[in-house]
Amino acid sequence: MSTEREHFSSRLGFILAAAGSAVGIGNLVGFPVNAAKNGGGAFLLMYALFVFLICLPVMIAEMAVGRKTEKEPVGAYKALSGGSKAWGAAGFLGVLTPFMIAVFYMVLTVWIFGYIALTLAGDLDYLASSNGFGEFINSPYLFVAMIAVAAIINFILVAGVKEGIERASKILMPTLFIMLFAMVIFVLTLDNAIAGVKFFIIPDITKLTPAVINGALSQAFFSLSLGMGILITYGSYIDSKTDIVGSAKLVALTDTAVAFTAGLMILPAVFSFNPNVNPAELSDSSVSLIFTFLPKIFLALQTSIGYIGASAVALFFFTLVFFAAITSLVSILEVPVSYLVTEKKHSRKKALSILMMTAGVLTVFATLSFGMVSFFTEFTFYAGGVRSFFDIIYDVFYDTILPLNGFLLCMFVSYRWKKHNLSDELAIGNKNYKGSWVEKYINFSLGTFIPVIVFGIFINTVAQKFFAYSIFGF
Ligand code: PHE
Repeated sequence: MSTEREHFSSRLGFILAAAGSAVGIGNLVGFPVNAAKNGGGAFLLMYALFVFLICLPVMIAEMAVGRKTEKEPVGAYKALSGGSKAWGAAGFLGVLTPFMIAVFYMVLTVWIFGYIALTLAGDLDYLASSNGFGEFINSPYLFVAMIAVAAIINFILVAGVKEGIERASKILMPTLFIMLFAMVIFVLTLDNAIAGVKFFIIPDITKLTPAVINGALSQAFFSLSLGMGILITYGSYIDSKTDIVGSAKLVALTDTAVAFTAGLMILPAVFSFNPNVNPAELSDSSVSLIFTFLPKIFLALQTSIGYIGASAVALFFFTLVFFAAITSLVSILEVPVSYLVTEKKHSRKKALSILMMTAGVLTVFATLSFGMVSFFTEFTFYAGGVRSFFDIIYDVFYDTILPLNGFLLCMFVSYRWKKHNLSDELAIGNKNYKGSWVEKYINFSLGTFIPVIVFGIFINTVAQKFFAYSIFGF
């Protein structure tokens, strides 16, 4: 190796960085709505089981592959397969996927930044108005916001793993935890808050349909940042003293705890706004919840705390989501950065400028997909109807390739790299690992039912999304 690979300075630094990646818009908005609409406590329980029984082994395997090879996905797959071209291609998918998902996530982050700016400018009433969001996503000012967000990301990433990613996570994550708790406490003091908590927690098993179960697993997979090469890359920056299994458990626990806590923030707010709300109709997507529904809730607070007070609460909330989004974006962009640095031998600075240009152009296209330019808005057509450029990135990379990457990783680790090598790697930093039931569970599950399940999700999604055909009846 030409240069010594940079490492996180401590186990805590690594855990905060990985948790920073995992905690994102999905936790703060997607999860609470999903849980409330789809069975409350029953959903929560099922979600927790998925996190620990299905996702955690995948997370551990990704980290182990990263630490063993000290490389990002392309280099890692090549190194452990003796240079196999086919596995190299799987690794390449592991770099392309985060690159494309970063584009889609960047669009959302830029919107959040725009909401922060407009709230600061005193325009909460505009954001809460019926055509506020529709106008906002077609505003040319978005490109200014995009440059600002790109500059922040660049600022963090160019400083490297320790001084950039780790430092930012050490500041932003604790701040985020405190802000989230403060928001929960505030929201719980509102009228009817308890009705929201009840709705979130009381189980309703009848809602657990196959489609909901599938959705919960996809949500858990995405939420833990799996299948995107992120944990392989972050794993390549941990030293050999670190206990991977224990660290991964903490990351999964933090991510799930934040998602759960976010439910205690979102649902009481929704119910205090309208005690008769029927959450089944709450909102179809986290996008409409965060960008159209929540601003209305914040604005309604003006009757009790005035317009400035209401704007301050909105500002607080959007800043919280922004912090979560930034640490996720940083992690996802670090994968192609690391690829360009390790495999293509560019400097970090050069790698970042290549990425900012390429991902930047695609982000502009994706931003134009909401009506600004009809070529991108009506980009193509398949089973689901007319799809925009943004939709395609979402459908292909987030919905489809993500589980495929998960499947490939399980197969790679179990049948190419081999389980005894995984065990050897995981035993470093954890003396009790060998012979433990955790080892047995990880080795068994990664080679059997986990790949079967994620492959099933992949096939079902392809059939449904692109051919409007439902294999498993949902
Ligand atoms: N885990 C993030 C979330 O829940 C998803 C994500 C991670 C997205 C990393 C992009 C990059 O929102």
